[in-house]
Amino acid sequence: MKSNEFINILAALPEQIEKAQDICSRVKVDLPEKINAVYIAGMGGSGVAGLLAKSILSENLKIPVELIRDYAAPFAMTKNSLLVAVSYSGNTEETLSVVAQAEKRRVPMVFISSGGKLAELAEAKKIDIFEIPKGYQPRAALGFLLIPLLYIFEKLKMAPGLKEDLAEAVIELKKLCGEIGPGVSPHQNEAHKLAAKICKTFPLIYSSAALYPAAYRFKCQLNENAKLLAHAGEMTESNHNEIEGLCALKRGAHNHSLLYLRSERDSERTKKQMEITKSLVGAQLGGVREIFPRGKSLLCQMLSLVYFLDMVSAYVAEVNGTDPAEIGTILKLKKELSR
Ligand code: F6R
Repeated sequence: MKSNEFINILAALPEQIEKAQDICSRVKVDLPEKINAVYIAGMGGSGVAGLLAKSILSENLKIPVELIRDYAAPFAMTKNSLLVAVSYSGNTEETLSVVAQAEKRRVPMVFISSGGKLAELAEAKKIDIFEIPKGYQPRAALGFLLIPLLYIFEKLKMAPGLKEDLAEAVIELKKLCGEIGPGVSPHQNEAHKLAAKICKTFPLIYSSAALYPAAYRFKCQLNENAKLLAHAGEMTESNHNEIEGLCALKRGAHNHSLLYLRSERDSERTKKQMEITKSLVGAQLGGVREIFPRGKSLLCQMLSLVYFLDMVSAYVAEVNGTDPAEIGTILKLKKELSR
């Protein structure tokens, strides 16, 4: 895949969300009436959809929602729980391992995948599946992976106002595309300007706990698209440990850059902690760059940050002369694993 093509796919997230909504409206899912917990299994670009959904819906989750990003299914996952297995390829071995354990324990399941072994299993065992379009890289298929997950929670009556919030997000993302999309020249494009500033640094990204999935997604996108190491931390937890390491970085250590994802939704105490850490560690790191979301709902705010930062990661790749579509090392590892 050409790198331009990949960037265009990332930029088309709002349209992808609309397509995903259309897919969801056509899929029939039969969810159990009474469950005591929801488990979401998924790795990498698929797993991040679970992280985002859990945070976006946090205020309305009436039962525990746990993420599984490993081979082992938690002991507490029983036939009274629901497992949502998310794997774009349908072949990720950690996710398949959790599904195999769930089968043995007779845990009700629903899948989100474009094919692979997960789709085969769904067919063979009559398990409900949201079949999403093939031909994407998982990290560029976030709309297809996330929307079905949110839709499942809507069916479970834990996502009130989902349609309105998605409508708000699509409008805001389309507006953002006109400001920071690939068609906007680098000197007028805020995402490009940020990319140029951080492209030779080790970005340290912080946000409130609620927005942490956006910080983590950015870290992963910098890793995969730009082949750049980065760190995502959660405020205020990081102020109880990492702050010491940050303060110890020598003045003028410009190989690090400090980024805060901020929102007026952050609690007053979190805002205060951010202001204090800015004054304590900002100077050492050449100042703090702050990024604000768009929109009112948590869903819109989260997705606007994800979208802006996805574009930053692609532009970092462009500035550094790296192909954002290429993930040779991950593919090599998967090949070795399959031997
Ligand atoms: C590649 C990517 C990876 C994959 C991960 C799991 O674009 O984002 O992080 O998402 O290796 O694979 P899938 O998503 O197929 O289960």
